[in-house]
Amino acid sequence: MAAVEETDFVIVGAGIAGLRAAIGLAADGARVLVVTKEALDESNTYYAQGGIAVAMSGEEDVALHLDDTVNAGDGLVNREAARVLVEEGPLRVEELLRWGTEFDREGGKLMLTREGAHSRNRILHAHGDATGAEIGRSLLRHARAVEKITLLEWTTTTDLLIEDGAIAGVGLLDRDGQGTRARARAVLLASGGAGQVYSDTTNPAVATGDGIAMAWRAGAEIADMEFYQFHPTALSLPGVQRFLLSEALRGEGAYLRNARGERFMERYHPLLELAPRDVVARAITREGMGPAGEALPVYLDMRHVTKVDPATRFPGISKFLAEHGLALRRDLIPVRPAAHYLMGGVRTDVHGRTSLPRLYAAGEVACTGVHGANRLASNSLLEGLVFGARAAEAMRVEAGYRVQGAGYRDAVRGDTRAAGSDDSARVLRELQQTMWEKAGLLRDAEGLGEAGEAIRAFEGENLMGFDRPQVELRNLQTVAALIVRSALARHESRGAHYRNDFPKRDDAQFGKHSLVSKGRDVTFVDFQRTEALA
Ligand code: SIN
Repeated sequence: MAAVEETDFVIVGAGIAGLRAAIGLAADGARVLVVTKEALDESNTYYAQGGIAVAMSGEEDVALHLDDTVNAGDGLVNREAARVLVEEGPLRVEELLRWGTEFDREGGKLMLTREGAHSRNRILHAHGDATGAEIGRSLLRHARAVEKITLLEWTTTTDLLIEDGAIAGVGLLDRDGQGTRARARAVLLASGGAGQVYSDTTNPAVATGDGIAMAWRAGAEIADMEFYQFHPTALSLPGVQRFLLSEALRGEGAYLRNARGERFMERYHPLLELAPRDVVARAITREGMGPAGEALPVYLDMRHVTKVDPATRFPGISKFLAEHGLALRRDLIPVRPAAHYLMGGVRTDVHGRTSLPRLYAAGEVACTGVHGANRLASNSLLEGLVFGARAAEAMRVEAGYRVQGAGYRDAVRGDTRAAGSDDSARVLRELQQTMWEKAGLLRDAEGLGEAGEAIRAFEGENLMGFDRPQVELRNLQTVAALIVRSALARHESRGAHYRNDFPKRDDAQFGKHSLVSKGRDVTFVDFQRTEALA
């Protein structure tokens, strides 16, 4: 393992939230170790296409952004968190501009596009459809220039260390299977989402819910796990990994058509193709199912759009489609929903504090309640920026920045390559398929019950190795179990959580966030009324 030095703060994850927090923490001289499982440019952040939503033109714009966020969240948005997001968003984006992020411009003016459930054009984009990669590039360049930030690639964080009831560091595993411990004054989880829990996902292979599973094992409160957002339009070609087809395509005028060639969204929502994401995803699922349950194609159609040139406005998407013989200008593009973003996660307040002392979380791994039951398109990069910066500030103030006599310790488990079973790839595939079929877009008690049993059986397979695939598999099993438990407990339909057996929204009983922690049942709480966390 690469030599690492004693540190003050550990950040798990090098996406937008982790890097923004690192820059904040190192500002007054603290030593920050950022750990990531693969190369620095392999995270959900780098795959974000559409853009970053931000209200840059004054108070009225901010108020509208708040309204859109709250409305998309289907009655469950934590208003305080959403207010923080939209009010502090412009400051954080101006900071990005100062740090050299190149958003697309026309005649020198920032270009703005629209996506589902936005009442106006407020989405900045970069290099057409490579917004996350451009923000990641500029944050990384900035972070690399800060001497006190150490960026450690190809290192898996296996667990949180606990001392005297507080988080005191992390266990690490390098690519050769050697373990070490990193001790620190505080740890920030910025490890992103868990799309790999489903067979069909827009997320990269690294999205295995590690932060949520580690926090769970350490005893932290986990919230809203039943709310997994399915992006409506992932490319659907046999044998081809699901590929995100940005909502910005519909923002620029693309239609959805069913197997009969009909535009169908008018039957589902007045905003048609720009309805909230959960509504569009379910509509595509329904249109994609024939009377006998057979699969029917659903298409994205951009052939009529003349106001933009698809090849220049969406160069990354156009290139990928061309590799598969398709062109936006010429063809109907087959689409299906795919798991995209987890609204739930490690419960935090608006300062990134979790329920455990000295453990903080920001970005997709965290649940402030800012997205409620359904995230507004392009609010996730903004979330990473705003709450990454806030968590850094809270850590700086509350955890100081001098480690006294602590540093990296000996290996935790010595050579970790030995144990483990070749069955982990099979178990992973079965877990993902089970979750897709039984705990996906449309659920009911019977299917969720079967998923729960299957997950318990997978746990019984006793995959006890400590190589990275097995660490990730155990984390995904934990995440799957939390999704299923929370989905079973919520006897209503709201946002991304749709129960065939409880199709109505029930505010009286369930207008609250679900909360679960080790050894405790799922409960429902009002985040705005509960006391400070740690
Ligand atoms: C997209 O480009 O459609 C994804 C943006 C998001 O997830 O908000």
